Amino acid sequence: EKGGYEHFMLKEIFEQPRSIGDCLRGRLNAQEGHLHLGGIHDYINKIKNADRILIIACGTSWHAGLVAEYIFEEFCRIPVEVEYASEFRYRNPVVGEKDVVIAISQSGETADTLAAIELAKSKGATILGVCNVVGSSIPRATHAGSYTHAGPEIGVASTKAFTAQISVLTMMALMIANKKGTLKESVYRNLLIELEAVPDKVAKCLDLNAQIELIAEKYKDASNCLYLGRGYNFPVALEGALKLKEISYIHAEGYPAAEMKHGPIALIDENMPVVFIATKDGSYEKIVSNIQEVKARKGQVIAVVTEGDTEIAAMADHIIEVPAAHEALMPLISVIPLQLLSYHIAVMRGCNVDQPRNLAKSVTVE
Ligand code: M6R
Repeated sequence: EKGGYEHFMLKEIFEQPRSIGDCLRGRLNAQEGHLHLGGIHDYINKIKNADRILIIACGTSWHAGLVAEYIFEEFCRIPVEVEYASEFRYRNPVVGEKDVVIAISQSGETADTLAAIELAKSKGATILGVCNVVGSSIPRATHAGSYTHAGPEIGVASTKAFTAQISVLTMMALMIANKKGTLKESVYRNLLIELEAVPDKVAKCLDLNAQIELIAEKYKDASNCLYLGRGYNFPVALEGALKLKEISYIHAEGYPAAEMKHGPIALIDENMPVVFIATKDGSYEKIVSNIQEVKARKGQVIAVVTEGDTEIAAMADHIIEVPAAHEALMPLISVIPLQLLSYHIAVMRGCNVDQPRNLAKSVTVE
């Protein structure tokens, strides 16, 4: 059942070219300029005219929501707020009929997310779901939605569900932007082509597995690790840190790289590994300076960079080169090496990667 892999997590990481492909299949055809998510068809105008989009989720799904915030705001010019379901439901949130809520959940059973949906629904909001498990509780509680079609995810650490969630949310944003006219036709068409190319680029990242295993060997005994990214790669830093802490039990934190100087920089010495997600995008030069700041304090830098990068290669202790892509789609690619890095570190530390201590696949307790 593990398809020849030692763990479900590794199998699911390696499934991603296919699972992302399955998620896009029948919905996107770049050559024909076709993009359609049947599940939200009746709600397109509602979303297009929304005053605000509220994204509600927990854990890794919340990270996918953060990526979606950047994408929706950039493409659709609709204000977005991303909320932890548990915080949203226990305060007295301002939400009403003009709000569209997108609830993201792999399992479709997360208790806090479900309760947050019921609360928003009682206040008149339109609720869309982005879930993986067909027929689970959350899709049944929403007005409409789109499944991620990633296939069953068994490993407690979410991997292929995360990339499928981002794929669906990107398609939603592109559909709405196209309807709203907030993206130039040429930009829109190019993004469709870029999105269709993602599965092949993910496959190229998987080819880096052996190289990443060697890096893991060097850092497996670390007791702390910092993950830094900016822009679209900031949520990827959070996700990389969560993956490491949940399966290897190494304390890890993700931060927006620019926030380093407001606190975390105090932690940096020769024993501190810092993983930078520093692909070529609008914030590249800024993150290069952040890498210099870490190196000046003797931190160990592992950098995920765009293929052919020489500037960071000259400063970092290790580089992991991933294929170039439109910056908005980079999280789908830059997260892959981080999944592999935490997997190998956890295996080397003798941890139970598929069922880490104290964690459950679906959190149905409040
Ligand atoms: O099933 P859901 O997407 O609602 O689950 C949310 C979180 O419990 C989940 O993402 C959790 O953080 C994972 N263990 C992360 O790998």
